[in-house]
Amino acid sequence: MDPAHQNELKRNAGYHAAGMVEDGMIVGLGTGSTVFFAMERLGERIARDGLSIAGVPTSYQAAIRARRYGIPLTSLDEHPDLDIAIDGADQADPDLHLIKGRGAALLREKCVCDAARTVYIVVDPTKMVETLNAPVPVEVLPFASSPVSRRLAALGASPALREGTKKDGPVITDNGNFIIDCDFGTITDPESLETAIAAIPGALECGLFSVYKEKITVIVGEEKGCRVVSLH
Ligand code: 5RP
Repeated sequence: MDPAHQNELKRNAGYHAAGMVEDGMIVGLGTGSTVFFAMERLGERIARDGLSIAGVPTSYQAAIRARRYGIPLTSLDEHPDLDIAIDGADQADPDLHLIKGRGAALLREKCVCDAARTVYIVVDPTKMVETLNAPVPVEVLPFASSPVSRRLAALGASPALREGTKKDGPVITDNGNFIIDCDFGTITDPESLETAIAAIPGALECGLFSVYKEKITVIVGEEKGCRVVSLH
């Protein structure tokens, strides 16, 4: 898809999600280029309409961008219950299982998703698939990266330590850890796979989001507006 056109679709999704935010809400702020549009719109609503909210950022990137748009920030310590979270995804299937973590923010994104009452996932149509099949990022304690990698391979993955660009060596997450990207091919049972990865000591979190389907609404940006997908 032409990148300029793709950005238009992302904007439609992001703006729609920003419209769901109400005065006084505490908002989880995901990471990535689609969420930027939601933040842009929230910034406009704050400046123009006096919308009063506070955001919990899921990464340094989200925090920096939120400040630029004038969104006041808070933390999960101060607000362990979030009214809403807006985040992106790398893939979503019709049952609203997700793969996240291209931006290496999956650990905090899952904490925020868990803390939120309602979660809006903003995507362009390229992210919608019948069955998940993208590599699953796993955030790994550097101390245990080799044994974790072996355990991931035993689950059927081709594990690859994520390397930096404009930085030699592994990507270091905002939490000081490594990312191992795990190609499992087609993922027919995301719940079982997520449970199996979670049982590996040193695997801190994975990019499969399979247990939040009931509170997730996926907003797919389209030519004219967006398509809203939820299980309720
Ligand atoms: C970061 C993520 C992002 O939300 C996901 O990669 C989508 O990003 P984008 O909207 O730029 O495609 O999971 O860890």
